[in-house]
Amino acid sequence: MKISVIGCGYLGAVHASAMAELGHEVVGIDIDAHKIEQLAAGKPPFYEPGLPEILTSAMASGRLRFSTEIADAAGARVHFIGVGTPQKAGSHAADLTHVDAAIKSLLPHLAEGDLVVGKSTVPVGTAARLAAVIEAAGSGATLAWNPEFLREGFAVKDTISPDRLVYGVAPGEAGEQATALLNEVYASAMAAQTPLIVTDYATAELVKVSANAFLATKISFINAMSEIADASGANISELADAIGFDNRIGRRFLNAGVGFGGGCLPKDIRAFTARAEELGRGDSVAFLKEVDAINLRQRQRVVAMTLQALDKPVYTAKVAVLGLSFKPHSDDVRDSPALDVAVQLRGLGADVVATDPQGIENSRLRHPQLTYSTSIEDTLRNADAVVLVTEWAEFKQIDPVWAATLVRVPIIIDGRNTLDAAAWRAAGWTYLGLGRP
Ligand code: UGA
Repeated sequence: MKISVIGCGYLGAVHASAMAELGHEVVGIDIDAHKIEQLAAGKPPFYEPGLPEILTSAMASGRLRFSTEIADAAGARVHFIGVGTPQKAGSHAADLTHVDAAIKSLLPHLAEGDLVVGKSTVPVGTAARLAAVIEAAGSGATLAWNPEFLREGFAVKDTISPDRLVYGVAPGEAGEQATALLNEVYASAMAAQTPLIVTDYATAELVKVSANAFLATKISFINAMSEIADASGANISELADAIGFDNRIGRRFLNAGVGFGGGCLPKDIRAFTARAEELGRGDSVAFLKEVDAINLRQRQRVVAMTLQALDKPVYTAKVAVLGLSFKPHSDDVRDSPALDVAVQLRGLGADVVATDPQGIENSRLRHPQLTYSTSIEDTLRNADAVVLVTEWAEFKQIDPVWAATLVRVPIIIDGRNTLDAAAWRAAGWTYLGLGRP
């Protein structure tokens, strides 16, 4: 099928490549000429395992091309909208400027029978509003909302083999036609018996934000428990294992630490709260403000633990920070707790040296005041304290005996509760985790 993907950021670039890999004829469109140039050269503008491979193979097959011209969307049957919906400046609400602009620019190129498919995360009510805009333009095209659940670091796998598909469609015949077209687009997932929910626009929009709200709540729940564990001498890792064996709870997303970040969870829970308030139901999701507050508190907690552990004033100390990206397998530092901790420590006067397998370049653009090193050894050398804030395998594999020979003072703050505390202590380290005695 001929497909256009409008917006070639994280979501769009992966979606366009994956759809072409699955056999569709795809044009990826973005107004950012530099991004399009990089993609057209087979080089994704961000780090995502597996993406360079499918991008290259899809381009070699001739099924994938990129363009800065929205007119190149003409002729496609399905048009995916994958532009960003960041947090609005000065507010918690989502900024829909890019979504609105994408739809507006696409309108003149739509034809009878075309389907516009929103993938961006939007406040509930947006799809109904956009459907009316598309209908008023009179092309005969219709709209569906098909939220995306991909995780950074696993984006290719999540797009090619999603764990579920959700179609928000218009009522009646238009909805049936949209469902049939989307089933064709996702034929391979359909063949693999992927669970499918066909529903209305509002439900599809809410599925996405409520899924992220639930995940964020789960993380803040365990972080709140880890604060109680700290106050009572309990062990949060053992507590998480024990409650996680209850299938109704589950062990995933119960890792206490410096908290969640990235381009989705933080801004999505804030936008959800803002939208609920607009709907007069602010009280229904007021708990998400607490989820946000607990999350942000973990960053302060790691900073405070570091200050307390140091044997000298922070402004005379060298602090080694292991991790910058918001999670492993990603170079994304948007709202990254790791980068935030590094910046806060620097702000307090510490000589911060930070390292990360993928996140240095993006961090340097935002915070040139930090010192970055690509070498773990150089990062650790003469440190007065080490703070681990992203659980990359490279950091988990550090030999504590070797590391102890490099630092000035063997103090490690494990902001992800990911190291073997006993092994580090045995090597002479003062080991401090969150909610871990
Ligand atoms: C998240 C969702 O997991 C995806 O399903 C969703 O599609 C995506 O947002 C989106 O809306 O686009 P992602 O932002 O890639 O995906 O990251 P996650 O894997 O969810 O991790 C988010 C943050 O939570 C990371 O900073 C991670 O370190 C943290 N986290 C995760 C914890 O602190 N503890 C945990 O137990 C799990």
